[in-house]
Amino acid sequence: MENTSQPLLEAYHLGDLKLKNRVVMASLTRGRATNPDLIPTAMMAEYYAQRASAGLIVSEGTWVNPQSIGFINVPGIYTGEQVEGWKTVTKAVHDKGGLIFLQLGHIGAGAHPDLQEGKPPVGPSAVNIESQSFTPEGFKATVTPREMTVAEIHQTIEDYKHAAMNAKDAGFDGIEIHAIAGMLIPQFLSTATNKRTDEYGGTIENRARIIFEILEAVTQVWDSTRIAIKFSPVMLSSVGIVKPDEETIPLFRYILHQLDHYNLAFVHIVGPSEDLTGTPVEALQDNYFAHFRRHYHGRILANSGFSKDSADAILREGNADLVSFGEPFIANPDLVERFKQGVPLSESDRDTYYSGEENGYITYPEATI
Ligand SMILES: Cc1cc2nc3c(=O)[nH]c(=O)nc-3n(C[C@H](O)[C@H](O)[C@H](O)COP(=O)(O)O)c2cc1C
Repeated sequence: MENTSQPLLEAYHLGDLKLKNRVVMASLTRGRATNPDLIPTAMMAEYYAQRASAGLIVSEGTWVNPQSIGFINVPGIYTGEQVEGWKTVTKAVHDKGGLIFLQLGHIGAGAHPDLQEGKPPVGPSAVNIESQSFTPEGFKATVTPREMTVAEIHQTIEDYKHAAMNAKDAGFDGIEIHAIAGMLIPQFLSTATNKRTDEYGGTIENRARIIFEILEAVTQVWDSTRIAIKFSPVMLSSVGIVKPDEETIPLFRYILHQLDHYNLAFVHIVGPSEDLTGTPVEALQDNYFAHFRRHYHGRILANSGFSKDSADAILREGNADLVSFGEPFIANPDLVERFKQGVPLSESDRDTYYSGEENGYITYPEATI
């Protein structure tokens, strides 16, 4: 007999946080911090409050320091003014009964001199990631970064800690470390972009070291059950030369085994959006999330391309504990209610994903009552 239970809509205890449902809004960079100091705005507070019926919101990727900036109009969490701006966002979400984590990001070599006062960006090694950076003059090709010194790596880890403290001051319910796509952490993990010969390069343990040093730093600020990390072991396109290779599967196995010691809020794993046949991660193709379940015993937040039905199915199978939705939240602020009432989802306008002020941002209506 077909199982028609709807675990996605059930309440869920995440440590001491009570989520109204198992729907998580995934991070969405929207480029609306349109002021020189990258301070969250009143419009951003309204946007997040519109989506507060999610069990949990994860904010857009947010810069941990000025060196981490690699995209225009994306907010930061390194100044007092930014913290004040974020307070209006967390209050608006809490007033609507929602919960919100802040996503901490550093784009590393994915930045552009136009966003770094003319200076080259920094990365694990002086290797161009061959991607695109969104500058004030539009998308531009990335350049060869400057290799970070060990002292700079240590300072960056301190900056994550400072950002985590600021997130607490700003009233967030937790933090998520952004480790997908063209960000600094995957640049350390990748053999294509990490050519270091010191303790941050070479072996899997060395390339992954920065993750655990960041986690050690932020667990001094937050209880581990309020800290999450987001990975994408299979992202194959749009991030230049940072791609899966023969070491990706053993690398993530190692990372997950280590993460088992942390009792994190969750590990957020992005699934494939393309066929993996013929790629170095082809072995993950079938029953993708079950592979991670075998190697990680904490909570898994599954992401990418889920519908209401496929989300219910993965929760029923037990291969994930929570499911996140990214793009569907753009045009469907009341996504959870639409799921409950079976209302069809609206399509979002891609032209307003990263710009357009209120248009395509806070203008999508609710379709449910
Ligand atoms: C406009 C846009 C902006 C995004 N920004 C971020 C981001 O800041 N941080 C992040 O981890 N993922 C980001 N993502 C990826 C989403 O969080 C999510 O992983 C992806 O959209 C797949 O989930 P979905 O199929 O439910 O949309 C972004 C996606 C889109 C479409």
